[in-house]
Amino acid sequence: MEFNETNQKVGTPNLHAAMPYVADDSRYSKMVYRRCGRSGLLLPAISLGLWHNFGSVDVFDNFEKVAYAAFDNGITHFDLANNYGPVAGSAEENFGRILRRGLGAYRDEMIITTKAGYDMWPGPYGEWGSRKYLMASLNQSLKRMGLEYVDIFYSHRPDPNTPLEETMGALADIVRQGKALYVGISNYDAEQTKQAVAILKDYKVPCLVHQARYSMFDRWTEPELLPLLEKEGVGMVAFSPLAQGLLTNKYLNGVPADSRAARPNSFLPASSITPEVIAKIKGLNEIAEGRGQTLAEMALAWLLRDKRVTSVIVGARSVAQLMDNLNALEHLNFSTEELAKIDSILAK
Ligand SMILES: NC(=O)c1ccc[n+]([C@@H]2O[C@H](COP(=O)([O-])OP(=O)(O)OC[C@H]3O[C@@H](n4cnc5c(N)ncnc54)[C@H](OP(=O)(O)O)[C@@H]3O)[C@@H](O)[C@H]2O)c1
Repeated sequence: MEFNETNQKVGTPNLHAAMPYVADDSRYSKMVYRRCGRSGLLLPAISLGLWHNFGSVDVFDNFEKVAYAAFDNGITHFDLANNYGPVAGSAEENFGRILRRGLGAYRDEMIITTKAGYDMWPGPYGEWGSRKYLMASLNQSLKRMGLEYVDIFYSHRPDPNTPLEETMGALADIVRQGKALYVGISNYDAEQTKQAVAILKDYKVPCLVHQARYSMFDRWTEPELLPLLEKEGVGMVAFSPLAQGLLTNKYLNGVPADSRAARPNSFLPASSITPEVIAKIKGLNEIAEGRGQTLAEMALAWLLRDKRVTSVIVGARSVAQLMDNLNALEHLNFSTEELAKIDSILAK
């Protein structure tokens, strides 16, 4: 299916925005679902993240279409956090509005996540991992989204100054209160993960999932974390799987004006796109072309070839980007030569 610049399906009438959303009946035949660790929960191989592109600085009509296109293509898993925006909190507010405008009719078919850990409000209780902060933050998130519960609640980062028992105890109680169905951790290293998983086990609330940065350009999870998660039966979802857009063809000829790297105070500074990085992107792009894929498709397929990776959480600024990313599912296998060539480019 093709989409034009304003996210309209090519060849279809311009649907009036006020018409209630009705999901595509064929959505579940378009997606692959994978079991999250040793749990009962299946997640789509490709999930949608709302860190960027869904804030109060973005265009509602545009990202609402991205959310609908995601669900229409079998993406049941929407990843949020208290601080997503900008401004912080606005991605949750906007997602709440999308739910109220129609998507919420499918609440039982959706996995909605949120997190707390980073700086959210002033004073000593507005960040990190205390029970006080986690409980208050989740209550705020539920209010912003208009939800009674989230499916997964995460400790967004480890807190060096709060006993891990307190942070994990708050997660376990949140499940017992029915405010989250499952809990997970994010940005914990392998040792911290081992301890967190053990404490949650003691509380009889298993750690469902670890959300970690993982892409061809950032392989820190491979030596210790992934084997540990597999052993413990904890799922792994990969964030920034396209290295925030570096692993696409967009930076091959400079920094486009509308890209993440061109924005002020970006998490992907233009200065990080060095000639060495471009040389790697070019080499990888050639391999992708040889496989009949875009670089974005190949970068996602490369992660998903590993069965320990439950899902990759992509960001998408347009329906066209989302559809490109979904095409990754068409070709997930790699030959030994392709993998060796990719490794040699990444090692340069
Ligand atoms: N737990 C954590 O600490 C944490 C941290 C970061 C992210 N996350 C989660 O992971 C999600 C994804 O992170 P991310 O946004 O960094 O992921 P990403 O998929 O690596 O990067 C997304 C960006 O890449 C570009 N892009 C995506 N698909 C493209 C395509 N097919 N062709 C060309 N460009 C494409 C777009 O940037 P342009 O605007 O340049 O077009 C898009 O905004 C977040 O939304 C969040 O849910 C979690």
